[in-house]
Order: sequence, then structure tokens, then C-alpha cells
Amino acid sequence: MTALPKAELHCHIEGAAPPALVRRLAGRYGVDTAGILDDRGGYAWHDFASFLDTYGRVSALFRSGTDFRDLAHAYFTSIAAEGAIYGEIFIAPDIAEAGGVPAADYIAGLDDGMDAAEAETGIVTRMILTGVRHLGPARVRALAETAVAHPRITGFGIAGDETMHHPRDFADAFRVAREAGLGLTAHAGELAGPESVRAALDHLGVTRIGHGVRAIEDPALVERLAAEGIVLELCPSSNVALGLYPDISRHPFRRLMEAGVRVTVNSDDPPYFHTSLGHEYELLGRDQGLGDAALLQATRTAIEAAFVDDKTRETLLERVDAAATGA
Ligand code: ADE
Ligand code: ZN
Repeated sequence: MTALPKAELHCHIEGAAPPALVRRLAGRYGVDTAGILDDRGGYAWHDFASFLDTYGRVSALFRSGTDFRDLAHAYFTSIAAEGAIYGEIFIAPDIAEAGGVPAADYIAGLDDGMDAAEAETGIVTRMILTGVRHLGPARVRALAETAVAHPRITGFGIAGDETMHHPRDFADAFRVAREAGLGLTAHAGELAGPESVRAALDHLGVTRIGHGVRAIEDPALVERLAAEGIVLELCPSSNVALGLYPDISRHPFRRLMEAGVRVTVNSDDPPYFHTSLGHEYELLGRDQGLGDAALLQATRTAIEAAFVDDKTRETLLERVDAAATGA
């Protein structure tokens, strides 16, 4: 499975923090990890609200650009070791600022870590500037306006608590980001139902949806996704951990794929859900009976939908095709 080329479009960089790194930072900054780490060394949370709370406390342990450099380096080298040739991370300056790190230091630190990981492994990496929905439309709009001309920031998105605000409240922010030339994606259809996916498509002009799984509850919407070629960033273990489905075998990945929807494989916040990108590919093979051809197609779809320039996309697709033909 390591040999199968993989790509990740949906991973929150703070959500990818290895617990060992977090323990080290807590020691360095004299912070008690009670309530952050559980007694088995994983993250302590039990529902979406407590997940967001732990996520915020973990993020606040990153206090310098160097801390974020180490985080990006750890994440990208780990997925490269699992066979990833491409990865995008969601970055949220609002979250980094809560830990006292200015946006410029945050982005520069991550960029350094990504440079190092690219040089060491050959993986190609990009960042998606991400608004935090529960902080409200004004903050998200302000973020879009700062959309820094940085060569590694190629997308704009929104995450956070889907029950807060309507997608139309963020239409302005997405318009500004589109005019800045960024690719667009929005979290929808995770905790909220199919109507949230429809609303994201109608109001935000996205080409990709983060999750979107709950579209499966509305056959007409599934048809629309397939007809419009909308790409879903599916995160099976995340959905199981947050209680959407009882186990991987009942996740709609395969049903969406067979309905002609363009699907990709992602890990979301991997250590929170005891997973990794490679593990998600493995689980889909094992528990949904997907063969290498279907999994390779998911990688190809991710590269087709990646927020990269045409030349980079072409080179990455050549790498996928070389694996497909055993070259
Ligand atoms: N931020 C980090 N992980 C998230 C998720 N799974 N849904 C919404 N916002 C998030
Ligand atoms: Zn997510």
C-alpha cells in the first residue's frame, strides 16, 4: 500500500499535530496536558464541541514560527513515507494568533517546514487559507482580504462549526478569494445535512466540498454533484469518530463513487481519529473492498482537483500514471 501513490486535499495542520510533539511543547512551555491528552497518549475529546475545545488548546501550544515549521515538517514527511506525492493543508491564521503567533510568522514557519519536507522526500505541497466559521463572517471576510500573495497559498476555504451561520453569509469572502485567484473549497455536509452542501454550491462557487458525505441522503443532490464534477474531500475515519457512521464499511465512500461523484481520500485531523492518510487508503481497501485501481483513481481525482498550476498538475499526473502502468 505504501507503493500506491496517494494525495491529500483535506488536512488541518494543527489537527495533524503528533501527540509526542504536543507533549514536548507542553513541557517546554510549562503547560499541563490534563484534558488535552488521554492516558493512552491520544487526544482527549468525546463530541464535536469537546473536539473543537481540545483542538484549540493544542493549537495554542504552538508559540513560534519554528514550532509550526516542526509541525509541517513532521506531517509532510510522514505522509510522504506512506506514499503521498502531493498534499494540501488547511491553515488558519486566526487559530495561530490565539496562540500568540502573528500570521506572517505562522505562514513563514509552515513554509520552511514544507520546503524541507519537499527537498527531503519529493512531495509537492500547498496551503489553503481557512476561515473559522464560528468566529463569524466578518473575520472570514477580513482573512480573504489579507489573502497574501504567497506562492504556496493557492486556495481558500472555511471550516469550523457548521451549525453557525448560513453559507450565504460567507459569499463575500469567497468572492474576494476568487478574485485573488485562489481555488475554493468549503466544509459542508458533515454535521449539517445535504441542504448545507447545496447552499455551499449555490452561494460560494466552490469546486470542492470538505466532507459533503451527507449528500448521500439526497439522491437529486448526488446527481448534481456527479453532473457538475464537484469533488468531495472524504474523510472516512473522521466521520466514524464523530458519529456519522457506525463503522468504515457503512461509510458512503463507495456508494458516492459508484454514483459517479468524484471522491478523494483524506485524514482531516489524523491523530484525533487514530488514523493517517495511508491508513485511510488501507481501510477503504479492507472494509469497502476497493481495489488498487479504485484507490489510484481517487489519487488521480485529487491531483485533478488540486489547487496547483497546470504544469505542476501535469507532472503529478505523470507520477500517478507511471505507478498505474508499473513504469
Ligand atoms: N476543524 C478541524 N477539523 C474539523 C472538522 N472535522 N470539521 C470542521 N472543522 C474542523
Ligand atoms: Zn476538515
